[in-house]
Amino acid sequence: MIQRHKTAIRRNKLSRPVNYLIDRGLLSKEMTFFDYGCGHGQDLQILEKNGFGKVNGWDPYFKPQAEKVSSDIVNLGYVLNVIEKTSERRDALMEAYAKAEKLLCVSVMTKSQKGYEGQEHGDGVLSSRGTFQKYYDQSEIKNYLESTLNTDAISAEPGIFLIFKSEKEKLSYLDNRYNRPVTLEVTRLDPITREPRKVRVFKPKLEELIKESAFIQPVMEFVLKHGRVPSPLESDDFKSLIDEFKSKRKIENIILDNIDEEEFLDIRARRIEEILVFFALRRFDKHGFPKKSDLPLSLELDIKSFFTNYKDCLNKATQLLFSLGNDRLMREAHKHITIGKVLPDAVYIHPSYVKELPAPIQVKVGVAQTLLGEIEGCNLLKINKMKEKVSFMVYEDFQKFAHPALLYTVVVDLPKLTTKLWDFELRENPPILHRKETFVGEDFPGYEKFRKLTKQEESKDLLSRNDIGTRKRWEAILEENGLKISGHTLKKL
Ligand SMILES: C[S@@+](CC[C@H](N)C(=O)[O-])C[C@H]1O[C@@H](n2cnc3c(N)ncnc32)[C@H](O)[C@@H]1O
Repeated sequence: MIQRHKTAIRRNKLSRPVNYLIDRGLLSKEMTFFDYGCGHGQDLQILEKNGFGKVNGWDPYFKPQAEKVSSDIVNLGYVLNVIEKTSERRDALMEAYAKAEKLLCVSVMTKSQKGYEGQEHGDGVLSSRGTFQKYYDQSEIKNYLESTLNTDAISAEPGIFLIFKSEKEKLSYLDNRYNRPVTLEVTRLDPITREPRKVRVFKPKLEELIKESAFIQPVMEFVLKHGRVPSPLESDDFKSLIDEFKSKRKIENIILDNIDEEEFLDIRARRIEEILVFFALRRFDKHGFPKKSDLPLSLELDIKSFFTNYKDCLNKATQLLFSLGNDRLMREAHKHITIGKVLPDAVYIHPSYVKELPAPIQVKVGVAQTLLGEIEGCNLLKINKMKEKVSFMVYEDFQKFAHPALLYTVVVDLPKLTTKLWDFELRENPPILHRKETFVGEDFPGYEKFRKLTKQEESKDLLSRNDIGTRKRWEAILEENGLKISGHTLKKL
């Protein structure tokens, strides 16, 4: 007899999927939430303790009497992977989906989380404790969810999928998922001295107002993301500000008079680019462009502000998508790369900085990602300049390893629409990385630490040689020089 309930662990903090839902603003206190297969119910307890009052759950072992209630959000957290009978697995998924009014969040254990080599059983393994586990590949579970529910399953994080009931909410999530952080201070090069200088985006007068009104901060954040003042229809904070200042025009003028003009133009240009990349990728998606009536309000109003009409926006997005096949445009785009390690034939960049690349290159990466789905642990991209190829590389952890080794690479060939995997994990002498700071931005955790190590290595003339690219050779060179690396510091042996 399979002991399914024994897979439930006691938690003292929220599970990863529930944490994700809150972090992304998908689950808020006023929403109803149902935990299908809640185990000991600790997610529910923690949520209740933190003011989420409309939460419920059911579990066939721990809470069998509870009613299964339809709710805005249903969580099916690490349940599918413990059910050994495929028909029952399917029933659980279908029922959880039916109970979800807005969103179903499904999480499963993935192959990289495989803890034990159990005895084979059905399509999974049995543990010594009599529990069953089916470890999924990211694409395998995505296909399973999509074919069973006959709708899109969006991969949010490795092993976590979101299935939206409304097209509008799905598009709103996709539009916001890779938001650039909004900052009140930007660094700009002085046009004459070429020295970097810090510029406040909003003038002090507006910042004074922030202290007085609780509503202005969220409105400023909106302006920083969208490059326009919100409509009262899409922002309750703006509505409250209008009530406070008694005039919509007055508050609009205060904001626009107090924003740094150059930065405002930049924000607008970035938002236009973001929208075009978004629609270029929708066109490539199997569903094609969304209907205008399915657009979330903020996106619809952005389009109204920045394009002649929806058709104009879609035409420009189509042109952007087609620029991938135009060598001259792609070469031109490569000239404008300002982040990452740019070599004559390719750029190497950490995936979290893709949004900083020129639009055609963002689309190239996005198209490759559409073919591939999420690559767990991917921490470096290689985007070829001429060949239409993007490589998704998984290196050892950047924080833990001073010179991470390459574990594997998946190369996507865009014109052929094929992918190829190169596995380095078992290689005795894998390629390793140097100068990690060159692949990331200054805000990346550990940036200073990476930079200091590079400086130390340069001072010992270790990086100008061309034979440092593999682990064994690098270790030998360090030893020959009487050196070793401890953490991120070069030390004498
Ligand atoms: C690994 S636990 C996950 C518990 C909880 N969701 C969490 O993330 O902590 C798996 C749970 O699935 C429950 N379960 C087993 N069969 C189920 C089914 N057919 N429908 C719903 N839950 C089921 C088990 O009782 C167990 O509590």
